[in-house]
Amino acid sequence: MKTNRHFSPLSLILLCSLFFILSNHLQANDVDQAIAQHKNYAGSQTCRTCHSEIYDQYSKTGHPYKIQAVNGPVTFPSGTSPGVPYPPKDKHWDDIRYMIGGFAWKARFIDQEGYILTGKEHRQYNLANPVLGLEAGWSGYSANTAPRKPYTCGSCHTTAWVATGKNGPHQDNLPGMYGVWAEPGVTCEACHGPGAQHVKTPKKAPLTTEENCGSCHRRGDVKKIDAKGGLIRHHEQYEDLLASPHKQLKCGACHSPHLSVKYPTGGFKGESKTCLTCHTQRLSHIPAKGKFKCITCHMPRMAKSAVSIKHDVKGGTVPEGDVRSHIFRISLDPLWQMFSDDGKYVRLDEDGKAFIPAANACLTCHTNQDKSWAIEHAKSMHHDTP
Ligand code: HEC
Ligand code: HEC
Ligand code: HEC
Ligand code: HEC
Ligand code: HEC
Ligand code: HEC
Ligand code: HEC
Ligand code: HEC
Repeated sequence: MKTNRHFSPLSLILLCSLFFILSNHLQANDVDQAIAQHKNYAGSQTCRTCHSEIYDQYSKTGHPYKIQAVNGPVTFPSGTSPGVPYPPKDKHWDDIRYMIGGFAWKARFIDQEGYILTGKEHRQYNLANPVLGLEAGWSGYSANTAPRKPYTCGSCHTTAWVATGKNGPHQDNLPGMYGVWAEPGVTCEACHGPGAQHVKTPKKAPLTTEENCGSCHRRGDVKKIDAKGGLIRHHEQYEDLLASPHKQLKCGACHSPHLSVKYPTGGFKGESKTCLTCHTQRLSHIPAKGKFKCITCHMPRMAKSAVSIKHDVKGGTVPEGDVRSHIFRISLDPLWQMFSDDGKYVRLDEDGKAFIPAANACLTCHTNQDKSWAIEHAKSMHHDTP
């Protein structure tokens, strides 16, 4: 006689669908719960009422503008970004609901349905870059997803982002927004946590001041520094630092979290309060030392956000991007290749250390010299005798 020990295909399907419905239901509940937590966020305008000085400093950094609603040309506080005067050439400002960035390197655009505009050309506005001698201009973005793709960038660009996916809920009920935020941009509470209670009783409900910079200034696996086209990909400061001699340092050892480094507002605490307190007497033998900062050689622009150039030097080319690297260490080994053979990662040695070849540290300025000149002169950089 046939026993009923095995499930029939039909009951198996039924069981699976039940499980699927249940698990989806659970996920939906998690999402609802996460969104419900948004009521614990007070918003940066409330913080401003008591911390106006910090608010003013912070409003001159890129963090709050990571994504902002727009209607017309976008301007920023004076002394910071020159702004974004035009929408993509085939669009009007009326077609654009939000702009992403535009403060430091580049801007991208979100349409009235919440999708990021993508395509081969005129989809990304690159700010002028005087260091590289480049005017403001346009380039393509994510051409293989053209004409548009959903907004899924909120975990690093907004405050208390809850990723919801295709079925929503959607921010502002825009179908292209695959999530919901408490406040757009990286605001006070993105770093200090929800503050509704603190606002009512500041002394009884202290907020955290523990830094969490590494949660956004990274890209995927922190043990790998992703690269492309001979430069490090952007937002990898945390990975860089872990592969540097400063892996034990916090970002706050050198940075003031409420101030910008892109514009001269004091975001970098300065050599004398940072490099020179730990590295005494490093300036003595540097040629033309009056002109140089430690970071001139130790933090070359080896990463790219928006734009890059190639310098023709004796015997080859040297690339320069628009974001400084946080690797610090310079290699004098003529055989050291900075990138893996496939060019996708920065090469690390067996101890997980990364190195910048002397050529990259020196030849962006000394273009009439070659790699071996750089190594030869780099050897004697901080020493009495070569
Ligand atoms: C990018 C992350 C970040 C953002 C955004 C941010 N803070 Fe901070 N804030 C920090 C960190 C980190 C510290 C601790 C600094 C230290 O210990 O030196 C701090 C310290 C503070 C302190 C105490 C120490 C002090 O400087 O007085 C206050 C108050 C404060 N923040 C308020 C705010 C307010 C208000 C805003 C928004 C207008 C804000 N923060 C935005 C990261 C941030
Ligand atoms: C009603 C005034 C008031 C408002 C509004 C307010 N704060 Fe404060 N905040 C204070 C006071 C007062 C202190 C100092 C508390 C102490 O000395 O114990 C403080 C301290 C802090 C600190 C230092 C750590 C701590 O808790 O002592 C941080 C960070 C901070 N506030 C962030 C914020 C953020 C973020 C917001 C907005 C969500 C905010 N504050 C809104 C009054 C306020
Ligand atoms: C893991 C965190 C993270 C994710 C995810 C992320 N970004 Fe960013 N993004 C950053 C950080 C950090 C910076 C600034 C530092 C840097 O570029 O080195 C940045 C910079 C930018 C800038 C330049 C801002 C300016 O003012 O110049 C744009 C534009 C941008 N991101 C767009 C996007 C888009 C579009 C997505 C989603 C498809 C995305 N990002 C996803 C972290 C992230
Ligand atoms: C929630 C994600 C997030 C966190 C947390 C975060 N950042 Fe950022 N940061 C960004 C993004 C995104 C940008 C690009 C903003 C822009 O310029 O439009 C950025 C830009 C910057 C810049 C360049 C722009 C400027 O104004 O100078 C610096 C420097 C910086 N962050 C430092 C820090 C430090 C230091 C911390 C920790 C105290 C921190 N960030 C925490 C996401 C984050
Ligand atoms: C809080 C202390 C501290 C500060 C601030 C600091 N450093 Fe360092 N730095 C160290 C320590 C410690 C080491 C050695 C680590 C080791 O032995 O692996 C180091 C190592 C280095 C190295 C050595 C690389 C090699 O070849 O081994 C360079 C280059 C360097 N730092 C540059 C800088 C620059 C430039 C600044 C400022 C932007 C700076 N440091 C700020 C502590 C500091
Ligand atoms: C003109 C380029 C240049 C400048 C400017 C520069 N360095 Fe260096 N530095 C180098 C080179 C090249 C090396 C590697 C040479 C070596 O290992 O002897 C190096 C090595 C180092 C080292 C590790 C080797 C050692 O001797 O301990 C430290 C630490 C360091 N620099 C700190 C600094 C600090 C701090 C400043 C700013 C006061 C600075 N450097 C400015 C080019 C420079
Ligand atoms: C040893 C000092 C030091 C540490 C530690 C450090 N930074 Fe920096 N950072 C700097 C300096 C110096 C600059 C360049 C300032 C300038 O261009 O004037 C910089 C620039 C930046 C920039 C802007 C890049 C550009 O080219 O415009 C970002 C973003 C940034 N840092 C984020 C971080 C984050 C996140 C951490 C921690 C994971 C961190 N930094 C740790 C010294 C440091
Ligand atoms: C930001 C541009 C810049 C960078 C980066 C730079 N230098 Fe220089 N260097 C200069 C300038 C400018 C002078 C001064 C030339 C003069 O006064 O005639 C100079 C002078 C020198 C001199 C003495 C004059 C000569 O040409 O013989 C040497 C040697 C030198 N640099 C080596 C290096 C090495 C090695 C590196 C990399 C570790 C480096 N420099 C990185 C700009 C730079």
